[in-house]
Amino acid sequence: MEPHSNPRSVSEREQLLIDPGFGKVFTDHMATALWSEGRGWHSATIGAHRPFTLAPAAGVLHYAQEIFEGMKAYRSGDGGIILFRPEQNARRFNASAHRLAMPQMPEDMFLEAIEELVRIDQEWIPSGEGSLYLRPFIFASEAFLGVRPAKEFTFCVIASPVGAYFKGGKRSVSLWVSEHLNRAGPGGTGAAKCGGNYAAGLMAQAEAIEHGCDQVVFLDAVEHRWVEELGGMNLFFVFEDGGLITPPLTGTILPGITRASIIELLRRRGVNVAEEAYAIDRWKADAESGFLTEAFACGTAAVVTPVGALKSKDGEWTIGDGLEGELTASIKAELVGIQRGLFEAPDSWVRHI
Ligand code: PLP
Ligand code: COI
Repeated sequence: MEPHSNPRSVSEREQLLIDPGFGKVFTDHMATALWSEGRGWHSATIGAHRPFTLAPAAGVLHYAQEIFEGMKAYRSGDGGIILFRPEQNARRFNASAHRLAMPQMPEDMFLEAIEELVRIDQEWIPSGEGSLYLRPFIFASEAFLGVRPAKEFTFCVIASPVGAYFKGGKRSVSLWVSEHLNRAGPGGTGAAKCGGNYAAGLMAQAEAIEHGCDQVVFLDAVEHRWVEELGGMNLFFVFEDGGLITPPLTGTILPGITRASIIELLRRRGVNVAEEAYAIDRWKADAESGFLTEAFACGTAAVVTPVGALKSKDGEWTIGDGLEGELTASIKAELVGIQRGLFEAPDSWVRHI
């Protein structure tokens, strides 16, 4: 990225907000804090978005002791700012930190950093269909080459105005089945949002692209049979009889907040959603017979994205008509409507700031 003045001028910002893409443009500020053994969290501040000074021996660079979150701030119709279930991100952040032997962060401190950054950079929230993607993360910044949990960590939140995750707001995506490359195994870190899981999935993602697909779908690491999730999204399957299946949280997939919210919204509609293991062979057979009418991926970045086709070494299958199905469209509309304050949210799903 070219160095730029900070803060950017109004006209520079407006130019950048026209078509920000995903994760390429960053706001003027970032929140940071430090943790050291014996002292706990300290030095929390908001400053200019700028590069870190990092020791070459910092733990994160060698042993990948790092966790992160992904959440969005939305501009509502009345000009307000909305966060969607941010306390869920705070909880998952701490669950990931626990799994990676990292310090816990008080929920209030996490939320305060997010809210302060959003407030100070609120002019960067795109209007219309865009949103401000927030990326909180913690990494081992202690300079030490021994293998043990670090004694110093850096917390940071950066913000990025985003449009659709898939280029051009694709109508549907195609998936490549990773038959031999696993993302996570039993007892591993699959349920944590840590950088290492994504690194482990990149070779399979590259394979998906080589095969002309948008994303990779991972199977379980033991039987190579059960559908788990994509590199950055959970999956739902919609059947002709009106029921849905989403893979269960077995410890090897990320417990998506979008996934949990969709399950709840569907159940409120009286729809039967099973958190049930779904075999890849059944997926192929159900797509072929037409019993599987829709499939969709979901996540903070991807929102709700229809899966149009599945490809593996055995062939290629189209799901429904390969485009967005009725249920997919309606659940997306309901979720997005809640996130943007158009529809009333269940319980305390939205936080106005
Ligand atoms: N699965 C993985 C591996 C992810 O990276 C994400 C994105 O955060 C999800 C699922 C969806 O989670 P959420 O809905 O909380 O964004
Ligand atoms: C998110 O949805 O927040 C993620 O972290 C997934 C990634 C594909 C950007």
